[in-house]
Amino acid sequence: MTNRVNPPHAAVTDLRCEYAAAPLGMGERVPRFSWRLDDPRRGACQTAMQIRVTDRPDTLAEGDAAGEPWRWDSGRVATDQSVLVPYAGPPLTSRQRCGWQVRVWDQHGQPTAWSAPAFFEMGLLEAHDWQARWIGIARPGDRSELKPAPYMRKGFTLSGVVHRARLYASAKGVMELRLNDQRVGEDLLTPGWTEYATRFQYRAYDVTAMLRTGENVLGAIVGDGWYSGWTAQGPRVYGEDPMLAAQLEIELEDGRRLIVATDGSWKATTGPIVHSDLFQGEFYDARLELPGWDGPGYDDAAWRTVDLVEDLDPAKMTAAPGPAVRAIMRLKPITVRQASEGAWLFDMGQNMVGHVRVTVAGERGSTLTIRHGEMLNPDGSLHVANLRRARATDTYVLRGEVARDRNEVWEPRFTFHGFRYVEITGWPYGSRPSADAVQGVVVHSDMAVTGEFACSNKLVNQLQHNIQWGQRGNFVDIPTDCPQRDERLGWTGDAQVFIGTACFNMDVQGFFAKWLTDLTDAQLEDGWFPNFAPRAVASGGNAPAWDDAGVICPWTVYQAYADRRILERCYESMKRYLDCLERHSDNLVRPFVPYYGDWLSIDATTPHDLIATAYFAHSVRIVADAAAALGRDEEAGRYQDLFARIRQAFQRAFVTAGGRVSGESQTAYVLALHFDLLPEDKRGFAADRLEQDIDSLEHKGHLSTGFVGVRDLNPALTAAGRLARAYRLLKNTTYPSWLYAVVHGATTIWERWDGWTAHGGIHDPGMNSFNHYAYGAIGQWLYESVAGLRTDPARPGYKHVLIAPRPDPTNDDPITWARAVYRGVHGRIETHWRVADGSFDLDVTIPANATATVWLPHDDPSACTEMGRPLDKTEGVSAVRAEGASVACEIAAGRYAFGCPWSRPRT
Ligand code: BGC
Repeated sequence: MTNRVNPPHAAVTDLRCEYAAAPLGMGERVPRFSWRLDDPRRGACQTAMQIRVTDRPDTLAEGDAAGEPWRWDSGRVATDQSVLVPYAGPPLTSRQRCGWQVRVWDQHGQPTAWSAPAFFEMGLLEAHDWQARWIGIARPGDRSELKPAPYMRKGFTLSGVVHRARLYASAKGVMELRLNDQRVGEDLLTPGWTEYATRFQYRAYDVTAMLRTGENVLGAIVGDGWYSGWTAQGPRVYGEDPMLAAQLEIELEDGRRLIVATDGSWKATTGPIVHSDLFQGEFYDARLELPGWDGPGYDDAAWRTVDLVEDLDPAKMTAAPGPAVRAIMRLKPITVRQASEGAWLFDMGQNMVGHVRVTVAGERGSTLTIRHGEMLNPDGSLHVANLRRARATDTYVLRGEVARDRNEVWEPRFTFHGFRYVEITGWPYGSRPSADAVQGVVVHSDMAVTGEFACSNKLVNQLQHNIQWGQRGNFVDIPTDCPQRDERLGWTGDAQVFIGTACFNMDVQGFFAKWLTDLTDAQLEDGWFPNFAPRAVASGGNAPAWDDAGVICPWTVYQAYADRRILERCYESMKRYLDCLERHSDNLVRPFVPYYGDWLSIDATTPHDLIATAYFAHSVRIVADAAAALGRDEEAGRYQDLFARIRQAFQRAFVTAGGRVSGESQTAYVLALHFDLLPEDKRGFAADRLEQDIDSLEHKGHLSTGFVGVRDLNPALTAAGRLARAYRLLKNTTYPSWLYAVVHGATTIWERWDGWTAHGGIHDPGMNSFNHYAYGAIGQWLYESVAGLRTDPARPGYKHVLIAPRPDPTNDDPITWARAVYRGVHGRIETHWRVADGSFDLDVTIPANATATVWLPHDDPSACTEMGRPLDKTEGVSAVRAEGASVACEIAAGRYAFGCPWSRPRT
């Protein structure tokens, strides 16, 4: 082996420790390292790697690694693993900051250069690390009243130069941290919503540059958030008043250390945030501002000392594993018009989630009332009936003490709304606001966009856009059903249906690592998973296809990211759930339960016991696969056997000798087919019945599936050889269909197929969200079947990719090309196919250190080419073979351009 020549163009990049590039406050005692090999050569892969970790990150940053006493040097390890490689050095301790870098050896045994260094820093790992106490103020008034947000501050003096400072903070509620007149970090609605009885998240911030020798002030504003504000279960479900726990740890250059922690000595008051609430909105009176309160030199004599002081239970403090919520982008309104006397209506052009930022000038005390809505009523006014008890109204009272034309800029801190339209009344001087007076600030968990899907059908592209915006709007710390009405819960059914799509669109690994903790925290004693998580005070279990999220979600995350630890951590709770299902079954058939059936299906009923039994089987099969993936072979065998027995029980209870499935609904057939519950010789018949139902007089070529059937409908049709039918359902624009909403102007996915219809207008506002992602679960089929890109379940994290595009075989306005890009943990994968003039072309990119199997839609290997050459003469292509109606081959990493003859089948 030579260490002299680095392979040209090969580099190790994109270093991550757990789920972030440079995490602070790492809570994992054994963090894992991931990187990407950037190497465009065909067949590029990693054959060995070496990681080294130092306690002296500054030396590493300065590029002076020579003579470094490494904390951990893995040495050269022969492995192709580049994702989530566990640290294996001496135990890491609280606050420890490390630098690390990695190099790899390629397929020729050539090492790359060492990567640029990356960093991670441990959080507070031991109970004795916590000195902070919970502090707040008792606010008078009754339970249902909206109350002001406490402002809290603590001054302190530093008699030396600061070397390093970290702020660790959490809230019962949501917080904005301030230090010396500035905001700390960019996080919003932190630390988010967890099962507060069990867990509070904390975050760590590097505040070194914000401190100075002399006087300093640490402050915080704390909003009610999910803790003491409104949630679906009413106001103040967890506690009466929001509280803060923070500790600022400072190391001076002379080696002295000090900690400024929340305790009974802090001063507090209330100020301009007259109230703030996630559902009801924020009321901000700028006349009550406290200029300079968060910096030195402010006179806080009129403030009181905090009157709520509680001990903090270190066992409940958890480092936040996932991304924080942040302002991700700003939208400009596309129109402004007068809706009625004094009311201005802004159309943001996009159903979005977040808040507005207003720029306004006016007299002191002028009051803007800002209402939000997703739709307009037929008379053009704002539709708010579907928000139910959520008032979604922000109020801004102008400071107005300066010149008449001096702008004030305001945006709320502790609320969010789901809206496309904004109505503002009270604009000063009766004037017309300009379009740039309002911006829509889009707020969600900060996840990288990883997926793109596009094709020749513009309406389908708008559908993909709507799916992505549904994800933006509902991935606000937890995956919610909807972001606008008085609900916004982490409904488990919605999450399990959509998670496959979500994993394509954005990097949701850390996001789900966090929510799966919420979900397992919320598991009920007897083994049920809750209907939603966090579950707060209520929500039982036993909702088939909802509870199963506890099995499906960890498995899906494992598949997408090869995150074995998540699977391991969820595994015991998955098993407990299965035991519970088995106990509550009658000879392995699950009984009828009132919840929720094929929720919001349209003109169809699927028996609840059938859904429950089908999902029981499906969950058991997943746990069998999970057991096998975790090397628990005996359990895998046991669950495989259980699956076979449930399958038989399902057939006895719900399938006739001829192959009809009880209920005969689309969803009944979809589940039976997709979960492999039918005898082999009945599958064709079941697929016929499914198609006949779609074609029936009642459905006339339309779907009827609700939440439970929607994701698997097109995959089931595709697997059963009914691809044309799946494409027709996709392209259908008449009611009910995915594109019906699209042709009627939707910019997000609607909760119901009939949310708005040409014949009935806006459906029952008692339950009608226009931003509910469940029906967006078709997205997974767009990526996996239309574009043809999925991970090999046996080599998760797209270590081995299955590329099987399924071109549109229909004659009615066929889709002629499709393209998907997915930036996975091994790198960028792309598929792009086109059909024209009897030919099929497919460009494929597979990242270094991954491989793929490709299927081309032609049955003769000799007619298939890559860059015009026969497949078996092509570097990087091997095992070319005919497989049924396709040609299959194995490919190494690299870029390929395949071609084969193709003619549209007569359908
Ligand atoms: C929510 C759903 C949820 C359902 C349970 C609704 O109120 O919005 O999306 O899954 O209840 O049936």
